[in-house]
Amino acid sequence: MINWNTTTASEDETQNLGMLIGRLTEQPTLILLQGDLGAGKTVLARGIARGLGVPETTPVTSPTFTLMNHYPARLDLYHFDLYRLSDPEELIELGFDEFAHGTGVSLVEWPERMGDRRFDHLHVTLESGEDNLRRIHVEARGEDYQEFLRRLMAECC
Ligand SMILES: Nc1ncnc2c1ncn2[C@@H]1O[C@H](COP(=O)(O)OP(=O)(O)OP(=O)(O)O)[C@@H](O)[C@H]1O
Ligand SMILES: [Mg+2]
Repeated sequence: MINWNTTTASEDETQNLGMLIGRLTEQPTLILLQGDLGAGKTVLARGIARGLGVPETTPVTSPTFTLMNHYPARLDLYHFDLYRLSDPEELIELGFDEFAHGTGVSLVEWPERMGDRRFDHLHVTLESGEDNLRRIHVEARGEDYQEFLRRLMAECC
């Protein structure tokens, strides 16, 4: 398993990191975004959406009440926010497993609510520091994701 640590000092920097992740994504991908309220999960998700070609005119916000937003793009984007998920069984009704093994890109905020699922994925943890500082830890879980993370590390910062 390889992992990588970086920091950002502003919302724009986090969004730009997301954009790079989106631009580098060429195949079906599952990305779990973990971090406290306000850590920057949605900012990163918005960047990924832009990098996949979701136009600037389309707002990308947390699907807190709908649990999932779908954005057509170069690869279809499914953005989950599971904060209000009361029971992991609800995920089955949402069709989550099909998305996670599907042809698009799935982003999941509050993945802790998913219960124990063992999909290969990219695991991103965001942690707030002083002022606008965010520590970002990225782990590749699965071989394809290790390759992806190597490319990200080579391109980034
Ligand atoms: N370096 C940074 N990266 C990202 N966001 C930052 C940064 N510095 C400050 N911010 C601010 O932190 C907030 C992050 O909000 P965001 O909605 O992305 O959080 P979240 O992790 O999705 O929270 P929630 O769990 O409520 O959905 C925004 O108001 C943003 O402007
Ligand atoms: Mg959010």
